[in-house]
Amino acid sequence: MSDVYASISAVHGYVPDDVLTNHDLEQMVDTSDEWIVSRTGIKERRILKGEGKATTDMGVEVVKGLLEKSGTDPSEIDLVILATVTSDMNFPDGANTICSKCGINNAFAYDISAACSGFVFSLFTGAQFIKTGAYKKVIVLGVDKMSSIVDYTDRSTCIIFGDGGGGVLLEPSEGDLGIRDAVMGGDGSGREYLYQTAGGSLKPASAETVAAREHFVTQIGRPVFKAAVSGMKDSVTTLLERNNLTKDEIDWIVPHQANIRIINTLASMLDFPMDKVVVNIDKYGNTTDGTIPLCLWEFESKFKKGDKIVLTAFGGGFTWGSILLDWAYDSN
Ligand code: COA
Repeated sequence: MSDVYASISAVHGYVPDDVLTNHDLEQMVDTSDEWIVSRTGIKERRILKGEGKATTDMGVEVVKGLLEKSGTDPSEIDLVILATVTSDMNFPDGANTICSKCGINNAFAYDISAACSGFVFSLFTGAQFIKTGAYKKVIVLGVDKMSSIVDYTDRSTCIIFGDGGGGVLLEPSEGDLGIRDAVMGGDGSGREYLYQTAGGSLKPASAETVAAREHFVTQIGRPVFKAAVSGMKDSVTTLLERNNLTKDEIDWIVPHQANIRIINTLASMLDFPMDKVVVNIDKYGNTTDGTIPLCLWEFESKFKKGDKIVLTAFGGGFTWGSILLDWAYDSN
């Protein structure tokens, strides 16, 4: 393999304007702002409203921002990967829709579905195309319209999720900065704890499945919580050990935003200070594939060229993964 590293050369995010607060949810289900904040850390989340508005509409905003910020012509893009569990339709994939709406005509594009780990899986996948020398400009997106699959009569899930996402442009790095290593994993026996029953080939959508609300997310929260902590902790630990790094040499951890208690527990088990852990769950909730790129976008101005950053995610499946990278630019 070559010494070329794929580095992030631009980052952008998008969240819809409409805000759904905990007080709004108090009017919809039997819950309270106090319960939600103390159990999850979430105060509000964004909801994409409007007839005909879907995940790719948010993806288009992200791609336009990436092209503009990086001064890239759409024709230069080689590949677009969209991590999502809420593509506009089962097929065609959303990545191609985004390309056609952004004038990206020389690229191939596809979606990756790995629940909340989809963005890190996609980022590591996209980086391989740069590292092998096959491509020079790859866009990796993580975007979800979770409000399209959340049951707003189920208090155990509707308080958690929100809409939004972001993405990055990957290019060959000029020095030796960029994506260094990744530890990815999965355990399909976890599928019984977080799933969408109907709408797939196992149980195609029907009047009965809709009446039984089976096209919405179902989650058994406690086992997911425990597996999320161990999946992220173990993959970060392995990543640091095999790169001969101590926790003190890491400048930032950017964790998937599922629950502030998961993030706090993770930081405590890694003995890592919370002021170097990126958190914005209070504003956006869990946007599934959107959380990590939204964090990168919001904290971009704090990252310095050469900062060592660990991204870590856990999701349904179960799936998990952590990526070690050297940030490649000073944003200002
Ligand atoms: N408001 C008030 N009470 C609620 C509630 C809500 N929104 N949701 C659940 N409860 C109740 C439950 O009914 C239960 O009541 P009971 O004891 O009378 O049966 C009680 O609160 C405790 O429920 P439990 O599910 O054990 O709570 P929890 O502390 O585990 O918190 C989650 C629930 C979902 C917040 C938490 O389990 C979690 O975050 N899990 C991981 C989720 C996740 O990371 N998902 C994405 C993976 S990528």
